[in-house]
Amino acid sequence: MVQQHLGRADATRAALIPVRKSDAWWELTQDERRAILEERSHHIAIGLEYLPAVARRLHHSRDLGDEFDFLTWFEYSPETSQAFEELVARLRRTEEWLFVEREVDIRLTRSTV
Ligand code: HEM
Repeated sequence: MVQQHLGRADATRAALIPVRKSDAWWELTQDERRAILEERSHHIAIGLEYLPAVARRLHHSRDLGDEFDFLTWFEYSPETSQAFEELVARLRRTEEWLFVEREVDIRLTRSTV
């Protein structure tokens, strides 16, 4: 998996997307969750299509008793922004996303170099 590091000079666009999944998701076994994520929703396979253009970081916040289970962070260049929209649209159409109870989609643009 070719992952780019964060903070690239040309990656002036970013998205911060906190995600909370439903109780139904957390009541599944780890194997069932993995099957939905990987085999049935192809989350990782889809995501890999957008590397290395999109750099990503995933923070688990559920254990901290946070409002959200995950804090996801992505950085990409303006040229990649359309591809990034396509990526999130594809993920939101998957079975996995039926378990997303709440997400807040925050986009940022860095104005200084
Ligand atoms: C840039 C392309 C992407 C790749 C390569 C990717 C890959 C992955 C991988 C490998 C995992 C498993 C945990 C880990 O190893 O980090 C994961 C989990 C996750 N990703 Fe992505 N992802 C991408 C894009 C996205 C986007 C755009 C979103 C949000 C809209 C997202 C939201 C999540 C969430 C919430 C999890 C945790 C799922 C769970 O454990 O229930 N990912 N991703």
